[in-house]
Amino acid sequence: MRRVSPQETEAQQTHIVLPSHSNAHGNAFGGQIVAWTDICAAVSAQRFARRPVVTASIDELHFLQAVKVGMIVELRSMVNRAWTTSMEVGVRIEAEHPRTGERSHCCSAYLTFVALRDSDEGQDAEIVLPELLVDQAEIWRRRHHEAQLRRDHRLKTRAERRSHR
Ligand SMILES: CC(C)(COP(=O)(O)OP(=O)(O)OC[C@H]1O[C@@H](n2cnc3c(N)ncnc32)[C@H](O)[C@@H]1OP(=O)(O)O)[C@@H](O)C(=O)NCCC(=O)NCCS
Repeated sequence: MRRVSPQETEAQQTHIVLPSHSNAHGNAFGGQIVAWTDICAAVSAQRFARRPVVTASIDELHFLQAVKVGMIVELRSMVNRAWTTSMEVGVRIEAEHPRTGERSHCCSAYLTFVALRDSDEGQDAEIVLPELLVDQAEIWRRRHHEAQLRRDHRLKTRAERRSHR
């Protein structure tokens, strides 16, 4: 079985907020930040799984501050934890003032991707994800543990939604 460290799944994106990315107030449109977030996270998921993946869910998002046109936006993502066919990717989004270099945290996101069978695999082919190597340092153990708590919550609310259909 392949073994992959979270660091090997890291993806980064850097953008400048252009007028075409903005809302009527001259700030980045939230949907644009979500689109960048989904793509950055998908790259991490693909680097981990090395097979097709789809976004199954995006946890609730809080935009902590507006990002003005002209600001630099940097996204950084990594796989936090993987289960049987799904994996959680964490994304941190920061804004950087282009002249002062001052940086601020504008949003954090957790997305779940699900690995799919490749087009040349049969319907019954088993989907096997690599093992995520978790460093025993406190920060990695904490991320790993918190990812499980978030998954438990996600699957509980998914089950509740289904029971109300
Ligand atoms: C995501 C999707 C593949 C899940 O299919 P499904 O048959 O409902 O999935 P299952 O119940 O067999 O679960 C498969 C895995 O997905 C996980 N999962 C499914 N829905 C989930 C959700 N809403 N949030 C988090 N994880 C989810 C399950 O926990 C399971 O993980 P595990 O194998 O690691 O235990 C399917 O719902 C889908 O294709 N959705 C559309 C995805 C898409 O098109 N995204 C782009 C944006 S529209």
